Amino acid sequence: MINLSKVIHIALIGAGTVGSGVLEVLEKNGEDISKKIGISLNVKKVLETNATIIAGLQGKYAIAQDLEEIINDPEIQIVVELIGREEPAHTFIRKILASKKHVVTANKDVIAKYGEELFAIAEENQVALMFEASVGGGIPIIRPLKQCLAANKITKVMGIVNGTTNYMLTKMTEEKLDFPVVLKEAQDQGYAESDPTADVGGFDAGRKIAILASIAFNTRFGLDQVSIEGIETIGSRDIEYAAEFGYVVKLLAIAEACEKGINLRVHPTFLSKTHPLSNVGNVFNAIFVSGDAVGDVMFYGRGAGKTPTASAVCADIMDIAKNIVLENKSFMTCGCYDHKPVCSVDEMQFPFYIRLLVADRPGALSAISAAFGSQQVSLRSVLQKRQVNGNAELVVVTHKVQENNLRMAIQTLEVMPIVSEICNVIRVEDDDFEE
Ligand code: HSE
Repeated sequence: MINLSKVIHIALIGAGTVGSGVLEVLEKNGEDISKKIGISLNVKKVLETNATIIAGLQGKYAIAQDLEEIINDPEIQIVVELIGREEPAHTFIRKILASKKHVVTANKDVIAKYGEELFAIAEENQVALMFEASVGGGIPIIRPLKQCLAANKITKVMGIVNGTTNYMLTKMTEEKLDFPVVLKEAQDQGYAESDPTADVGGFDAGRKIAILASIAFNTRFGLDQVSIEGIETIGSRDIEYAAEFGYVVKLLAIAEACEKGINLRVHPTFLSKTHPLSNVGNVFNAIFVSGDAVGDVMFYGRGAGKTPTASAVCADIMDIAKNIVLENKSFMTCGCYDHKPVCSVDEMQFPFYIRLLVADRPGALSAISAAFGSQQVSLRSVLQKRQVNGNAELVVVTHKVQENNLRMAIQTLEVMPIVSEICNVIRVEDDDFEE
């Protein structure tokens, strides 16, 4: 029943980029939003510490002095946390849920690390904790996994979930530039932070895949269970060779069901050009999900930014508001009823790309092949195209082999006098490879 004279009051904590986007979307589309949910929404208070942002909000929104002012306001039913990072966001969310107010957050750090604790508090207090914007920004992925794909046994979730690194790899590919040059450019343009570790080191993607895997496999996973490699070691040569073999280099976040449990990993990957994720360029994100009933589905869009992220946050607010109107207390809950073990990446099987520098003399190639062979690593293709500092640059693509065996082969190669450098080892994602 639509009653637009009735109002649900909201508080916003953090009115930076995404927070201001939420205010913008609620202002611009407020009338339609109210009609869709059957009640009006009002941002009653905003909590912000930045003086410049506060000055811009004065006269339009009431500024809260502290969290207590929001918690102690009985009219406020939904609190939107958009301050980011772990603290004080985690403590704030805990207190807000305990005060029986619903929470909407975009905070992947908090959800990945404290999800279990916070969902328990939400359930205990019969309030919602919604986090659609925490992975993939404006791309719908949390709700589709929890609801639309709920009837499936999910076998694999594979995504490009970090826009910064996808932008950098795209630039490196298109303009044949090396990592340090592109990083500097990305920092100058504001795409990469001055401390880029979370993005380029793969940790941001690691948190996001931990969140997605927790939903997809109904088991709570954290960042410490994700095997993580960043893109720092990728050179323009690797990208050139990738193209030659029919691949693009992408930082993929993968959660995959295997014999002994679930493997979670983030790493640069040689991805087949025929895979739909290979066309996801620049700052765009995409998540490719495989389910036993649905087959493959892909979600694509803007993974960050002011209004794309606000789009997801506002949808969560609307969902909660609708449930309040309908007096529906069955909010989306944690759903981690299972305890699937984590399967180490050492036990997984992949094809690998290896670039190495070896002495260019008779017998070198057969010695290299023998070293791989001694660890049951079978080679699919070998390419020798150029000389680097008097050495031959050798590029090897293996058949699908157990990671542990590959690592042992690399250790053997590292101490061989004819090998001067193992330049890079990158996993290949290509359905054409047989075991
Ligand atoms: N730093 C993230 C990215 C955006 O580059 O995609 C926020 O999740």
